[in-house]
Amino acid sequence: MQSLLITGGAGFIGSNFTRHVAQKTNANIVVLDALTYAGNLANVESLIRTGRIHFVRGDVCDVALARSLFRQHDITTVVHFAAESHVDRSIVGPAEFLRTNIHGTYVLLEAAREAWSGDTSDTKFLHVSTDEVFGEISEECGRFSEATAYNPSSPYSASKAASDHLARAWNRTYGVPVLITNCSNNYGPWQFPEKLIPLVILNALEGRDIPVYGDGLQVRDWLHVDDHCTGIMALLEGGNPGETYLLGGNCERRNIDVVHAICDAVDSFRDSPPGTSRALVTHVRDRPGHDRRYAVDPSKISQTVGWGPVRELEEAIPGLVRWYDEHEAWTSAIRSGAYVEFYARQYEST
Ligand code: NAD
Ligand code: DAU
Repeated sequence: MQSLLITGGAGFIGSNFTRHVAQKTNANIVVLDALTYAGNLANVESLIRTGRIHFVRGDVCDVALARSLFRQHDITTVVHFAAESHVDRSIVGPAEFLRTNIHGTYVLLEAAREAWSGDTSDTKFLHVSTDEVFGEISEECGRFSEATAYNPSSPYSASKAASDHLARAWNRTYGVPVLITNCSNNYGPWQFPEKLIPLVILNALEGRDIPVYGDGLQVRDWLHVDDHCTGIMALLEGGNPGETYLLGGNCERRNIDVVHAICDAVDSFRDSPPGTSRALVTHVRDRPGHDRRYAVDPSKISQTVGWGPVRELEEAIPGLVRWYDEHEAWTSAIRSGAYVEFYARQYEST
């Protein structure tokens, strides 16, 4: 990995990954990010200040920019995170999801094909995708594997499924050395507080209502973002182009149990009487098309490169509560009144 292009490197997973690569390797790192509502320069500020990364503000749909980045920086590896990532937003406004997630992926694949047409040795294009492309899976059917059929439920997951198909086609037809990862729900520092875990932490810290969609019995398979980063690194080193790999945390939890664990951690952190934060839980109208259960079987990546998750959700939660409390300036800059209103409009209390 000599010269690495990371798209979406100012977002949650992208910024954690950028920091990870910057510390662990001496690769030349170029970050391309449009700085949408979800992108935040503060997430990678220290790396920009020290000159460790070259940051470019730009759109993955910009063909000329994509081509010029490959040329100028002699890019040999792409890790493509940039996307519209939030299911609720995709339900309210799908257009941007189709543009960025589908068209943006096409633009990058084409730029890679053109730049690497002479020689693809030592090149890799890792397309970061989601377990949501498979839709929901019942307990009886076990866990998602690389052989599970695509069955996306939301505009977000349908757009990611489309981007996976493009990535696979550019490998089969044009020989672009593409790897695809489908990962389960991530948690960790620098996550935009529209997602369940940081939203619940902040609402509990601030004494606001905690919205739980429907009965709260939906199941997600939680993976610490650090584990996701080590998995991607391992695949860049030992993964096979043309292959798909599923990453999961071996950590299936019902939403309501995750919410309660966070509430209890916030009460301990605040020295509040037990039950204080749980009293804030408010069941609200369910998300349309809400998938009931995700569960990932990570055997293939484990057998191929020896990767497995090492962080435990319940052990990580108290540290995460502390992290979001200590980064009050970061969170309050993001949490505008307009943001809160967005939710108030979408999900009324039941
Ligand atoms: P995020 O929303 O936190 O970050 C997305 C980043 O992409 C932001 O920095 C944003 O500015 C940038 N971006 C958006 N549109 C762009 C455009 N047109 N051009 C350039 N940059 C653009 O997302 P995340 O949670 O970090 O997810 C990153 C990737 O991982 C996504 O592809 C997502 O589908 C995938 N993924 C996420 C999770 C999860 O739990 N968060 C799990 C599995 C897979
Ligand atoms: O599975 C991987 C996916 O995980 C990624 O591809 C997506 O980019 C990422 O956003 C995430 O999608 P989810 O929809 O699962 O994440 P979210 O944090 O929005 O919701 C997690 C669960 O919690 C889900 O069942 C919906 C529920 N939820 C969410 C919010 C924001 C609530 O009950 N209340 C809430 O306020």
